[in-house]
Amino acid sequence: MPTFDFDTVPERRGTDSQKWQKYAGRDVLPMWVADMDFRSPPAVVEALQRRVAHGIFGYARPVKSTVDAVVGAMEARYGWKVDPAWLVWLPGLVCGLNVAIEAFTDPEDEVLSLTPVYPPFISSPRQRGRAARSVPLALRPGQPASWSIDWDLLKQAVTPRSKVLLLCQPHNPIARVWGPDEIAQLADFCCRRGLLLCSDEIHCDLILDPARRHIPTAVAAAGVEGIGGHLATFMAPSKTYNLPGLGTSFAIISDPELRSRFTRACAGIVAEVTNLGYAACEAAYRDSEPWRLELLAYLRGNRDLLLDFLARELPGIRVDAPIEATYLAWLNVEALGLSSPAAHFEEHGVGLSDGAMFGAPAGKNLRLNFGCPRRTLAEALRRMKHALEKRPG
Ligand SMILES: Cc1ncc(COP(=O)(O)O)c(C=O)c1O
Repeated sequence: MPTFDFDTVPERRGTDSQKWQKYAGRDVLPMWVADMDFRSPPAVVEALQRRVAHGIFGYARPVKSTVDAVVGAMEARYGWKVDPAWLVWLPGLVCGLNVAIEAFTDPEDEVLSLTPVYPPFISSPRQRGRAARSVPLALRPGQPASWSIDWDLLKQAVTPRSKVLLLCQPHNPIARVWGPDEIAQLADFCCRRGLLLCSDEIHCDLILDPARRHIPTAVAAAGVEGIGGHLATFMAPSKTYNLPGLGTSFAIISDPELRSRFTRACAGIVAEVTNLGYAACEAAYRDSEPWRLELLAYLRGNRDLLLDFLARELPGIRVDAPIEATYLAWLNVEALGLSSPAAHFEEHGVGLSDGAMFGAPAGKNLRLNFGCPRRTLAEALRRMKHALEKRPG
């Protein structure tokens, strides 16, 4: 019997939800931005209530128990011994990526990423006045097909101005859990070419495929000579425990010189994490493991419903490779022949992310967020089927 309730559909219309406000006043189910339509774990909500009851919200610093919760989770889940001194708290992970670009590159340097990828990997370098270089991932045929790094393209993309490689691990939007050998090879490549590897591991606690597990880049690449001086890892409790609105993330940088360049770039610009963010973070990592395990089971059920529905009812839409992690599905809609598939589905009541924003060719892909009660997902799929029956031509 499940202990936690993922089935109840919460009312988020008329709230401060960015996801739901986008379609305010319209009957469109938002299946876009990566937050889930679930309440956070009870332990998190209770910790927040206790912190609010204290009633004083002065400038915050993490207490030892918060740091212990983070460090303890890294060791228990991933065998990664993190020294508390390596942590740099951040109000957002994208903020951390921007700081890394400021700290480790000069204007007009190049920042590489493997596409399709989470849009800020492409927009952040540009916002910082750097060039964003996309290296397309390869879809290797097979049973099943799998996404892989195209080493030839990556080698060709690197120039003397390339300074940073942004890695998404597990990878949003293709839901791939990179293997330790691939990560070690990539780390070795970065060290040899003088690239700083920024490893965004925000989705690492959301592994759906029981045959895969997350191995932090720092662990997978531990044998690579010089990796400490070329690696910054970014994590957060926000995706897993549905806390993105609380702005609580952290970088883990073991090399003191890199860390000091990073913290210098934060100074005076990057806001502090809040009292509530720290309280939620501690309760998430320390007290919410039973909730996380049930969440994973629920998300696996949603993923299976989605794949089954696509196969039976929407044969023009494919997922090219297994959804190994995250609550995000990368749909291939090329066969539908729609010039603007995102607009077409939106018109018929489903708000999806346009694949072009992730660096995919226009009209080819959509991303669907299945982090929602099963009833919502089933209704979205029903609407998508209806939308295809109403297709022009
Ligand atoms: C890979 C990845 N990194 C970062 C973020 C956002 O992090 P934050 O809200 O802490 O800036 C997301 C959100 O979807 C994401 O998928």
